[in-house]
Amino acid sequence: MNDIQTIARDIVAVGKGLLAADESVKTANKRLTSNGISPSEEMRRQYREVFLSAPDIEKYLSGVIFFEETLGQQTDDGTLFPKLLSDKGVIPGIKVDQGTEPFDDNPDELVTNGLIGLPERFASFYKSGARFTKWRAVVRIDGDTLPTSHAVLENAKRLSSYAHEAQVAGLVPVLEPEVLLEGNHSMLRAKEVITNTLNIVFTAIDDLPVDKKAIIIKTSMVLSGSESGKTDTPEEVAENTLDVLMTSVPPEVPGIVFLSGGQSPDQATDNLRAIARLAKEKNAPWPLTFSYARALQSEALAMWQGKKENVSKAQDIFINRLHRVSEASIGN
Ligand code: 13P
Repeated sequence: MNDIQTIARDIVAVGKGLLAADESVKTANKRLTSNGISPSEEMRRQYREVFLSAPDIEKYLSGVIFFEETLGQQTDDGTLFPKLLSDKGVIPGIKVDQGTEPFDDNPDELVTNGLIGLPERFASFYKSGARFTKWRAVVRIDGDTLPTSHAVLENAKRLSSYAHEAQVAGLVPVLEPEVLLEGNHSMLRAKEVITNTLNIVFTAIDDLPVDKKAIIIKTSMVLSGSESGKTDTPEEVAENTLDVLMTSVPPEVPGIVFLSGGQSPDQATDNLRAIARLAKEKNAPWPLTFSYARALQSEALAMWQGKKENVSKAQDIFINRLHRVSEASIGN
């Protein structure tokens, strides 16, 4: 257990965070296509290499979350991606859930699949170098009707089972109950749903022998829905997000990371900075940092365009953003 507690603490080391490079094949293809790049396994590999081989990532990244395909891919010169990272002291991680499907009790909601065969998959991912892992559940807000507590509970039980299995396999589980930004809900409604969701997740965790000192919580920030027409100030986001976390996340949890969820890179940076500052002021018991996909990658991807001659410019853009997000995570 000590080992995974140490790894969990390393994931949230001061000034560092995670790159979520774990888009499924379908999502990665969508990102490539929307930047005029024709998707293929080779282009997805090149896309990953732009980020993983950028100089100095180890100054800002404690770890990278891979998708299964990427864990077995290599750089142009034949170095496996997990080895490239561990040689730099960056911890390789792996997303293990197998996506969502409509919930039987209410097909408007989603539950996450992937528990079957997890121990065998964990053993194989461990062999490939992964030391932490992620499971994403999706919670959608629709007025006062969604989410139902039934669907949240089902997702929470699965998150908890996953966390238990991961720890048994010697991997740190990152539990991500993502409350979607999409919708026209108010900030207050987002606050209520994220609070309830985290509370239900921790109730489910308490039903199993999960070591809370060896998990990481990955959560959404509290924001008004993306179709609400409201832009929240970083101070509002920080105040509400900290309120939620202080009431829902036990102090022994070693760290909390945020997803960017469709915020612009600047918003995700400014909101993280405000949260970090307020957390310091309030003496929050856990380190708080980033685990972004889009907010770290979208600007560089737009520069890269799938062309070798743009790689170094794209990497500069990525490192610049990463540096700013890392500074934001310590309130600078
Ligand atoms: P975004 O930062 O793009 O929301 O992605 C983070 C993530 O891991 C979503 O599952």
